[in-house]
Amino acid sequence: MKKKQTANIAVLVSGGGTNLQALINAQNKGILTSGRIVLVISNNANAFALTRAQRAGIDTAVITRKEAGSQEAMEQKICETLDAYKIDLIILAGFMSILSADFTGRYDHRIINVHPSLIPSFCGEGFYGLRVHEAALAKGVKVTGATVHFVNEIPDGGEIILQKAVNIKEDDTPETLQKRVMRLAEWKLLPAAAEKVSRQLLEQ
Ligand code: GAR
Repeated sequence: MKKKQTANIAVLVSGGGTNLQALINAQNKGILTSGRIVLVISNNANAFALTRAQRAGIDTAVITRKEAGSQEAMEQKICETLDAYKIDLIILAGFMSILSADFTGRYDHRIINVHPSLIPSFCGEGFYGLRVHEAALAKGVKVTGATVHFVNEIPDGGEIILQKAVNIKEDDTPETLQKRVMRLAEWKLLPAAAEKVSRQLLEQ
């Protein structure tokens, strides 16, 4: 059988989608070449990430727990959609739903996630979005950052792929810190990790 030239990537989102945008930009600039974003799935019909995907000409799907009826039914629909697009790699980019062990087990080492802290600090259930930065500032740490890791059955517990540290400033608010962590760490790490893992998948 002929070897695949690029890995088919699906990006799962829930909100603004700046990390999705970083992936799209990386694809356009030739930083992400081993994988191609062919599908964006949102569990929130109002996510601006959907607009970003549409502007880039990428197919989108909205699959919500409410409409599906349960987490299990939502995951089943997600799986069916991923299968229809022959997805090789799933990227969680601000996807605010914890996936079951059943789901993560189906895609062993084929799901990656970006988290806005240096794991194992400020991670796991309840640590998402701005809350992560609020917790870092409340603790008084002087350095934080971002992590891209494989997703397994433990929230934020899978093998670490890339990390980058970001200094905290004395006058930081959760919002200023979030923006700096995104700009200096997340938007660089996620495309780099997407390229690295896509390349590894093609070599398998
Ligand atoms: C990002 O900071 C991402 O790391 C975080 O949510 C934000 C989504 O922003 N994810 C988590 O906290 C997951 N535990 P975006 O929609 O603009 O990419």
